[in-house]
Amino acid sequence: MKYMFDWKKDINKKELDKAIEVIKNNGLVLVPTETVYGIAANALEDEACKKIFEAKGRAQDNPLIVHVSDKNMLKSLVKNISTVEEKLIDAFMPGPFTLILEKNESICKTASAGNSTIGIRMPSNSIIHELIKESNIPLAAPSANISGRPSGTNVQDIFEELKDKMDCIIDGGNCKIGIESTVVKVIDGVPTILRPGFITEDDIKKAVGRVALSSNLFKKIEENQSVESPGMKYRHYAPKTKCVLVENSENQIDIINNILKENENACVVGFSEDKDYIRTKKFIDLGSKNNLEKIAHNIFSALREIDKENVTLAIIEGVEKKGLGLSIMNRVVRACENNIIH
Ligand code: TXA
Ligand code: MG
Repeated sequence: MKYMFDWKKDINKKELDKAIEVIKNNGLVLVPTETVYGIAANALEDEACKKIFEAKGRAQDNPLIVHVSDKNMLKSLVKNISTVEEKLIDAFMPGPFTLILEKNESICKTASAGNSTIGIRMPSNSIIHELIKESNIPLAAPSANISGRPSGTNVQDIFEELKDKMDCIIDGGNCKIGIESTVVKVIDGVPTILRPGFITEDDIKKAVGRVALSSNLFKKIEENQSVESPGMKYRHYAPKTKCVLVENSENQIDIINNILKENENACVVGFSEDKDYIRTKKFIDLGSKNNLEKIAHNIFSALREIDKENVTLAIIEGVEKKGLGLSIMNRVVRACENNIIH
């Protein structure tokens, strides 16, 4: 690592020039966004984007999201934009939203993994926004984590994992949202959610009148299966410790206490109000079950916390698969590798 900047309070203009220099030299910058941290590089250069794949150990067929500062930059990277797509852009950008569009030739082949489409996102976080705007370079940026591991939502959580792989690390404090953007592709005129996120099904329905959910969101996908989004196929968000998800139900607490009877060395990742009723010494608090935004904010750090507890099993409390709860469950189901108690 060449540079480490602390911008928790303010963006330092001199340091910003150094970060821009790293981008212009095809280097990697660890940068905060409102969703999760990203590993950013010049989206127009194969050499730069190849480094992202190497640093993450990412499958070659899994394309990157390209981040832009404004609508003009977005338009410079894609072919035609339909009326529905235009509406989605106006409703949700800037923000935690990624739209899959037909790309033109400017984005490098490595970023799009050879596909004719590209995911475009316009982040609202001021740090990544300034980096894109001032460099005038669209930035390819996947979530900041080694592939398969939980995404990073603060620098402490990912520093050891990534410090030797980055040229520049920008610490912008905790990410506001904590889970990744909603990935949407308009298929036959219908906005279809390929990865649920902070922008929910309802939000999209309200904005454009129609919405669909990919049928693959909670399925275990085989390596050679064809899916709308390559990311669906791969192991994701998983702690090293074995995890089991106890789905939302009336007797969630009893089920957990029963599992604990047979697994003494287990921790529980659960809701604040359940803490006193769950018989474990190692409780990782997700916040109140009534505050889904807080749970979304805490979930990746909680998943990383599990491996620090020295346990043989982690039992995770599930939320209802509705609204933001659906997006949280999408991450947790994958973290548990479909090891679920209904
Ligand atoms: O919030 C976010 O989106 C974060 C921050 C850093 O912006 N980025 C992020 O990127 O989560 P990544 O690479 O970890 O996840 C991108 C997801 C993957 O599941 C990938 O398969 C899917 O988006 N994706 C990217 N391009 C696609 C495309 N052209 N068609 C279908 N799916 C695509
Ligand atoms: Mg990711």
